[in-house]
Parts: sequence; C-alpha cells; structure tokens
Amino acid sequence: SPGLAALARRTGRYFGCAVKSRQLREDPDFTAAVARECDIVVQEYELKRGTTERKQGRYDFSGTDAIMAFARKHDIAGRGHPLVWYAANPDWLEPALHAAKPGQREKLMTDYIRTAMRRYAGWITEWDVVNEAIEPNDGRPDGMRADSMWLRTMGEGYIDTAFHTAREVDPKASLFLTDFGLEHDSTRCERRRTAFLKLLDRLMARGVPVDAVGIQGHLKPYKEGFSQKVFADFLDKITGYGLDISVTEFDLADRGGPPDPDKRDRELAAVAKAFLDVALDNPATRGVVCWGLSDRYSWLSNYPEYKWPDGQLSRGLPLDAAGKRKPLWSAIADAF
Ligand code: XIL
Repeated sequence: SPGLAALARRTGRYFGCAVKSRQLREDPDFTAAVARECDIVVQEYELKRGTTERKQGRYDFSGTDAIMAFARKHDIAGRGHPLVWYAANPDWLEPALHAAKPGQREKLMTDYIRTAMRRYAGWITEWDVVNEAIEPNDGRPDGMRADSMWLRTMGEGYIDTAFHTAREVDPKASLFLTDFGLEHDSTRCERRRTAFLKLLDRLMARGVPVDAVGIQGHLKPYKEGFSQKVFADFLDKITGYGLDISVTEFDLADRGGPPDPDKRDRELAAVAKAFLDVALDNPATRGVVCWGLSDRYSWLSNYPEYKWPDGQLSRGLPLDAAGKRKPLWSAIADAF
C-alpha cells in the first residue's frame, strides 16, 4: 500500500523524516521503510557543526553526503538542518566568537553557511537557517534566547546576516526559521508563540528574507494540553506574513501516558490527528517531517526528560520498533 509520501503528494504536500547515515548503512529494513514512506529527508545530527567542523575550517560532511546520496538514488528531496543554532557546536567556536573583533564575528557564522549550502545546492531545497532563536521563559525582556552565543556576541542582527547570506549563496533554496514549544495550549507555549511572532514581525519589518516557518512539533500530550483553535490562530498569524509553514520535527513524547502500550498508541494517534488536521488545513503548509520514522531509533528513548525509567522505548513515531505501521501512521495518513 502507498507510503505517507504518496498520500501527502495528493494535496501537493511532502512527508519525510530525520535519518542518520549509520541507519542507512547498517539497517536495510529501516532504509527500505524510509524509501517507501518518504519523499524528503533531513539529517538528525550530521549537518550540525559539532559534527561537520570539529576543527575550524576542516570540514567533514561524510554523514550528510551519504544521506544525500541515498536520497538522490531514491528521488527523495533534502532538508538541511541547521545552519545556525546555539547548540551542538564545536568546542572551539564560542571562544573564537568572543575573541574575534566585532567585524570578524560574522565570518565565523557565514563561512559555515556558505560551505554547507554550496556543497548541497540543488540537492537540499529547504534550509533551517536559524534554529531555536527565542526563549522568553529565560528572563530576557525581548524574548530572545539568552544562552545563544550568536545573540550574545552579535545581537539579534545575527539572524538578519544568516538569512541574507543564505539567500545570496543559494537563491533557489527555501529559508526557514524554526523553533519548538509553539504547539501546546500552555502558558509556556503561549509565551513562546508571542515571542516568536514578535521576532517574525521585526524580521519582516527589516526585510529579512525568511521564506517559511518550521514548527518543530515535538508534542508532549501527557504534560501539556492542545487546542486546535489556539494552534490554528497561531498558524494564521504566520501565514499573514506571506510565509509558508512546515512541521519539521514531528514526534510525540509518551512518557506519563497509560502503561498499556496499545492504549497509549491510540491516544497519541488522536493527538497527532488533532494537531495535523490544523497544520494541514492551512494551505500554506508544505508538509510534515517526523523526527525519525520508527520507534527503533527515536531520540526520545534516550532523552533525559522523556525516556522511560524502565528502559522501554518511546512510541512517538509512525512505525513501531519492528517497523510495523502503528495507529500514529494511520493518523498521519488520514490527516493528509
Ligand atoms: C536531536 C537529535 O535527535 C539527537 O540525536 C541529538 O543528540 C540532539 O539533537 N530540536 C532540534 C533537533 O532542532 O536538532 C534535535 O535533535 C531535537 C530537538
């Protein structure tokens, strides 16, 4: 039966997932599932600078090269994640940024944007140019992320520079501003939505070339509630700027849910359907990318906040650990 990508394509959308090159190298069964279900893939970590540029200017793109070679072979598109992020950077970068003269700081960011984007021009069609720029729950009055080395050394203009550079390097690529914690009906997310929209408003006023917003979509249904109306209104505000939307890192944390896995699977599927119905009801939504495809490899199984204390695997992805389609798979299929 058709994969999720084939179903998504009927309304001009895409479906994809994050992968690691090692999975494609060592797990043929999983690799076949990616080829069957997806028409776009993204690197789970192999484009992060802590991996690609452990020594300054000595690049290792082998992981992403392997992922993109697989993608090409199967006529799958590529997203690039991320060019500028506060996290997963090499150890040398933050001290170098602080030591650099003000006029030299931008280069420490733009050299990477140029190198990565040039390498995959024509293959990677969408880039997460700046990931996770806001954090209003940390105390800064402007809602920007206080622990970002980019913000601290260059001010908010680092975002402008990143997008202008990205546009110049590959004018055909779609440029995304991506963030998490925008999804739930909670005080935390409400504050994050407000800060995010204010940032978007400033970026648009300055003519920063953002094409689309990436809603990461890491849902936590057993910690925070979800309101279709609240989420729909938020997406409308984004598209009010003429921007596109994608769900770029979809999964659901199941920690705290009922012990019966079948019951949990049904509940997760219901939340996913409510969320995706809103996302895909918006004509500006390009598609959905899950953060992984099978529970065999979910990052949530190892993430301190969400992993189960008894070691059982997280169940927040469309295929179970054996690679079988779950209720969540059907929820995504129905939403398309
Ligand atoms: C995660 C990866 O899945 C993990 O393997 C890694 O150890 C940490 O990063 N938001 C993001 C992603 O933008 O890059 C993160 O990916 C998950 C949260």
